Amino acid sequence: MVDLSSDLGFLRLKNPVIAASGTFGYGLEFQPLYDLSQLGGLVVKGLYFKPREGNPPPRLAETPCGLINSIGLQGIGVEAFCQEVLPKLALLETAIIANVCGEEEEEYARVAEYLSRHQGLAALELNISCPNVRAGGKCPAQDPEATYRTVKRVKQVSPLPLITKLSPNVTDITAVALAAEEAGSEAVSLVNTFLALAIDLESRKPKLGNVLGGLSGPAIKPLALRMVFEVARQVKIPVIGLGGIFSYQDALEFMVAGASAVEVGTANFVNPLACPEIIKGLEDWAESHGLNRLSEIVGSLKV
Ligand code: FUM
Repeated sequence: MVDLSSDLGFLRLKNPVIAASGTFGYGLEFQPLYDLSQLGGLVVKGLYFKPREGNPPPRLAETPCGLINSIGLQGIGVEAFCQEVLPKLALLETAIIANVCGEEEEEYARVAEYLSRHQGLAALELNISCPNVRAGGKCPAQDPEATYRTVKRVKQVSPLPLITKLSPNVTDITAVALAAEEAGSEAVSLVNTFLALAIDLESRKPKLGNVLGGLSGPAIKPLALRMVFEVARQVKIPVIGLGGIFSYQDALEFMVAGASAVEVGTANFVNPLACPEIIKGLEDWAESHGLNRLSEIVGSLKV
């Protein structure tokens, strides 16, 4: 048997495959389809302190090799999550990660602090990179100083390990990753979606109610892979790679580029069984390549 585990230092995953936030509901929606304990982990939909309606429709536009979304972080809020969802997720033998949102620094801290008072979470993912909630797609992860401040503030109130989710909509993602590391983030996950526009030609209007949205899916994979490679060479904390992972080969490429684990997002919409299929593919590939531990390939790109 190949050892598929991924040791992030602060957390040991049974395998490197994590279902990505915003593409997997609160996890429970996928329970009728397969045993979620197969997963390395799952990140639930973004949580603000209060419930949130999200952006006006339409919220999705398909492209030839991707999906543009502008959901606007619709969600049930931390109270309903901790009362109604977390107790059920906590029964699963997989790492449950909450995606933490906020209008400003204090709300991020309030959400993180509230979540930390409840049993069942393995870590928090700090969502400072959603392009759909501020004018023009702006987000704290576009600024190393805002990233530093937000991470630092959340670390003051929560003992849970923190994974900071980074934005690709920057000139130098390594500067933001280093700021997150310096402020005490235990890991970084990258990348969130690329700011994008879809146009309906007949009406000459944007296809999305919020005008701009975030592009995900196979179209962004080479860009995300490049950013993971750049960041993994600069930071000492683990890197979790995401962006267009649809197959076990995609996951392996991210690991070779330096990712200790991967998140699978948009693929869940196309194939709800994407995660377990990728895990099986990783196991078969490692076996056929004579590996004892899959993690041997992390950062093994020959340059
Ligand atoms: O619009 C959204 O809910 C997207 C969230 C994200 O990209 O983090």
